[in-house]
Amino acid sequence: MTTALATDLNRVIQNHAPHVFDMLSGLGRELYYPKGILTQSAEAKQKARRHNATIGIAREKGRAMHLGCVMRQFAGTDPDEALPYAPSFGLPELREKWREHLLSANPSLAGRPMSLPVVTSGVTHGLSIASDLFVDPGDTVLVPDKVWGNYMMVFRVRRDARIVGYPLLDEGRKGLNLSGFAEVVKAESSRQKLVVVLNFPNNPTGYSPTAAEAQALCKELIAAADRGCRVVAICDDAYFGLFYDPEVFRESVFTLLAGQHPALLAVKLDGATKEDFAWGLRVAFVTFSSTGGEPVHDALEKKAAGCIRGTISNCSHASQRIVLRAMNDPAYEREKREKLDILRARAEKVRRTLADPRFAWRAADVPASSHPTIAAALARVGGARDDDVVWDPFVGAGAELLERARLGPYARLIGTDIDERALAAARRNAAAAGVPLELARAEATAFAPPQPPTLVLTNPPMGRRTGGHRTLDALLERFVESAADRLAPGGRLVWIAPRPQRTDGSARGAGLRLETSRPLDMGGFRAVLQRWRKP
Ligand SMILES: Cc1ncc(COP(=O)(O)O)c(C=O)c1O
Repeated sequence: MTTALATDLNRVIQNHAPHVFDMLSGLGRELYYPKGILTQSAEAKQKARRHNATIGIAREKGRAMHLGCVMRQFAGTDPDEALPYAPSFGLPELREKWREHLLSANPSLAGRPMSLPVVTSGVTHGLSIASDLFVDPGDTVLVPDKVWGNYMMVFRVRRDARIVGYPLLDEGRKGLNLSGFAEVVKAESSRQKLVVVLNFPNNPTGYSPTAAEAQALCKELIAAADRGCRVVAICDDAYFGLFYDPEVFRESVFTLLAGQHPALLAVKLDGATKEDFAWGLRVAFVTFSSTGGEPVHDALEKKAAGCIRGTISNCSHASQRIVLRAMNDPAYEREKREKLDILRARAEKVRRTLADPRFAWRAADVPASSHPTIAAALARVGGARDDDVVWDPFVGAGAELLERARLGPYARLIGTDIDERALAAARRNAAAAGVPLELARAEATAFAPPQPPTLVLTNPPMGRRTGGHRTLDALLERFVESAADRLAPGGRLVWIAPRPQRTDGSARGAGLRLETSRPLDMGGFRAVLQRWRKP
């Protein structure tokens, strides 16, 4: 049953922003901020002379009761500044300070309607509050296809949303896929309500839009609102400020959505967790923007605080105090810039590595594709002969054959795989590399290459796709035997053995001789890179 306090908040929202009211989830409509605590402690502050039984903490000698060993961690801090409960909304001074920060980092927000930020315990918590407020089971939530996995937990697992991905980047991964985004938004905005997550800089790609791209994205959402869809635009700005390219839009897309349309509610999630490199302090914020203005913002702040009250009650006072003091510290901006410079230099280094011409062939990928460096290592251990007939029976996206091609002349490069998508990726990579691969769909142990291979070069499945050790062992034992059978005399089998204890016996039994064996860390499990020779 909806309480009177929630009904009051709902009425305010309904009167000033009926569309925003329609956006609220069932839970969102039930949420309210209980009067008791705030009113009582305010009264107690004024009236209590001897005892204040309202605040839920102990006091001693006029200050918050505290252990010396706890307070020594906050040298020079008055216990009152760290230990009492913070309001569910967050420390008022910190909320003001963060608003100032938002306005100074996003100059276009000046004059736009915006709530006061409500403090959350990290951006994840803020996303979860937004999810509670606006997502009902079955509601559609659009997320980028390059996605931070936790959105699934926040929106699908917790709120049973229907998650739909939109393509973030265009084919060449150089810019946003604006037409792909528009297509998904158009298709989904025939619904009454659409929740759209915008995450820039994007995790995992690091991509931030240019000003023109940001405007185009936002125009699409405003157009959906124009068509009668209620749009909740959730701006996950966790990485705000980590802009490394001079041409990117340096403000949040929130600025382009704030106060733009009565049927569009912009919700901004951001925080000190990443912006101030204070991840574990868990200080972040949720901020709303509706054309309904102050009364709606006030009601939404209360609903968010109610959600906090009903879950974690309030966020860490000590953490908020540290962030507030840091933001007021004269060194704050300079120290932040210094850290940003370090991260920018690291990002540039990563970009240079990715742009390495040695890996320019890598146009397409499939799940569990070989890492280019692993493929290059395999090719080197395989060695290169001008008359090599090379066969990769688990060709995947073609990495091993293409790395072998880089080592020198060969007679033929043959790749087989049971997965048509893998073969399509290998075809694209071969085209990008300008290397003629002979590709066919075939099962590794059933295929007989058109000419006996001098080199079987492969990174086989490691169990994630074959389902369990037993199936994998059986497949790889059969594979080793059939590879030995297919190899030309003097030929090599060079591969990564995920479970050599199971396959070495088969290789020896099939007459192969082990020439090289090197342990490999495959990122979570160990395997062995082996070269076998057929006498
Ligand atoms: C896109 C994105 N949003 C939010 C978060 C979580 O931020 P917080 O540590 O503030 O909860 C992360 C990663 O930690 C992220 O990658």
